[in-house]
Amino acid sequence: MEKIHSGWENMGFSYRKTNKRYVANFKDGKWEEGVLTEDQTIILNECAGVLQYAQTCFEGMKAYTTKEGKIVIFRPELNAQRLENSAERIHMAPFPKDRFVDAVIQTVKANAAYVPPYGSGGSLYIRPYLFGTDPVIGVKPAEEFQFRIFTTPVGPYFKNGPKPLTLCVSDFDRAAPYGTGNAKLGLNYAMSLHALVTAKENGFDENMYLDSATRTKVEETNGANFIFVTKDNKLITPKSETILPSITRRSLMVIAKDYLGLEVEEREVYFEEVKDFAECGLCGTAAVISPVGKINDHGNEICFPSGMTEMGPITKKLYDTFNGILLGRNKAPEGWIKVI
Ligand code: PLP
Ligand code: COI
Repeated sequence: MEKIHSGWENMGFSYRKTNKRYVANFKDGKWEEGVLTEDQTIILNECAGVLQYAQTCFEGMKAYTTKEGKIVIFRPELNAQRLENSAERIHMAPFPKDRFVDAVIQTVKANAAYVPPYGSGGSLYIRPYLFGTDPVIGVKPAEEFQFRIFTTPVGPYFKNGPKPLTLCVSDFDRAAPYGTGNAKLGLNYAMSLHALVTAKENGFDENMYLDSATRTKVEETNGANFIFVTKDNKLITPKSETILPSITRRSLMVIAKDYLGLEVEEREVYFEEVKDFAECGLCGTAAVISPVGKINDHGNEICFPSGMTEMGPITKKLYDTFNGILLGRNKAPEGWIKVI
């Protein structure tokens, strides 16, 4: 399909309306047939569950144009599963997983002209989401829901692209023990906005959250998980019940082990250990792999040996291998890439 946009190289991470979006409603105990529509607006009852008690969850995915000009998406079944887990955590009717993948494919196909071309560095961000629509005034779950998917072409999540970021250790908590930190719920993002704005006002790119029970262990940022590389080239990533189980992180652990022959550890990471690591990065669908150069802990700086201009060498290898898989330059593990 002919591309109907230009300027693919200079896009940031912001919303641009595309052609079609997918909508399906849950009513009388069942999901109705979904449709593609051109209307980007939503009309809701003023008392809808999503508006009053934040009953909403979402996913984030990307479609890429490969070297051979195919449009592909990455491990959509894992997003389908995570959306189901998120929905159940806040008593919403999950959208059926097989229909999820089909709906994503339909939506990307309908917006194929907005998938940035190979080599542009851009992608089509895909945002599936689910929310309570019927009026709820006493605190209780909604009984009617809407599932939607929109797409928007995006560039890098952080404006300086692959340049190393500066983080600060947050004074705020992102997730409580036994709370909702491991589900992708709108409420987690609402409650972290103040911390994010505060970090940015103080000149930092992102927050490093520590576990709220002991404030000794590394959790994640507002929108990505952490990876670390030790001085002897081991990949370490924090294990916690209160962080989002990142699909990118799970994939990078496989790539590190099977493609790069690295030792990989998913374990609790104490903040105290961080100063001894050689490299640090953020990983996620939006962040892909974004290197971290510096972490400020209330005036004390941890400066990674990889510095503030380049990605560290192992992070770079992971980044190149992962991008190679997404863009069809490297062979992907079985089932990771779905051609649209
Ligand atoms: N952590 C948070 C809080 C996120 O919002 C995201 C983004 O989805 C991630 C981690 C990374 O998850 P994934 O790699 O599945 O996109
Ligand atoms: C994603 O990576 O898809 C997310 O949902 C994170 C968000 C901060 C954009």
